[in-house]
Amino acid sequence: AMAFETILVETKGGVGVITLNRPAQLNALNDQLIGELNQALDGFEADEAIGAILVTGSDKAFAAGADIKEMAAKTYMDAYKGDFIASWERISRCRKPVIAAVAGFALGGGCELAMSCDFVLAADTAKFGQPEIKLGIMPGAGGTQRLVRAVGKAKAMELCLTGRMMDAEEAERAGLVARVVPAQDLLAEALKTAEAIAAMSHTAAMMTKDCVNRAFETTLAEGIRYERRTFHAMFATDDQKEGMAAFMEKRRPQFRNS
Ligand code: CAA
Repeated sequence: AMAFETILVETKGGVGVITLNRPAQLNALNDQLIGELNQALDGFEADEAIGAILVTGSDKAFAAGADIKEMAAKTYMDAYKGDFIASWERISRCRKPVIAAVAGFALGGGCELAMSCDFVLAADTAKFGQPEIKLGIMPGAGGTQRLVRAVGKAKAMELCLTGRMMDAEEAERAGLVARVVPAQDLLAEALKTAEAIAAMSHTAAMMTKDCVNRAFETTLAEGIRYERRTFHAMFATDDQKEGMAAFMEKRRPQFRNS
């Protein structure tokens, strides 16, 4: 096992669990944390036994944003030459399903990290926002783009321009969050959801998320064409034969991810 300092990494059945762990900084996202997160994601992606990945934080904070203390002295050239924030994109390139389980603050880069996952499950204590404007900057990890796609222009614009926080209920109503659960149930619910996904054909899950994500990148006609080709390809998999045979034989399928 890798020795990480800013995250905790464990495996629960077919689920890889990553817990952001800088409690004294409310899980503020610094270079080290993003580097470790990316390494953990690489590990889970390469592990055949893992069918879904769960990213979570603490009761108080999923993540309170990019680490302001680390950023404060950066110059334009530091940001440009270092391609600041580019390394944060790894999570959105995961091929396996990634779920964010959010309790407490998901602000700035924390909200952006959650939105970079495939979907968000929220505790009723969750608070989302893009407060960067209050620091004299703007969102830099997809906040001006993914938030618009999640909640529409009006609410995204208001949130980014005022920096106000939105509670879990509002976030669910707006479409940022798949489901809200009582805080004490969040981890169990998220694990149950991740385990259910990990029990599906991993191949089918990967192709499904690929197609859903394609909806954000293309026209409807192109997206439908992409879906149709992918759907056709599924008939070349063993898991399609197994899944349908199991249905007809009234038994549980034994997917082999092939
Ligand atoms: N970076 C660095 N440290 C942070 C941090 C951050 N984003 N957020 C919180 N912390 C630290 C605090 O400095 C504090 O440390 P000290 O005890 O050493 O002072 C500790 O975490 C606890 O925080 P607070 O005492 O402030 O806790 P609180 O409960 O009073 O307030 C909060 C919580 C409202 C989340 C408040 O901490 C806050 O406003 N944090 C900053 C939120 C923010 O602006 N995020 C956006 C960052 S910019 C960004 O993310 C850019 C991008 O798009 C990628």
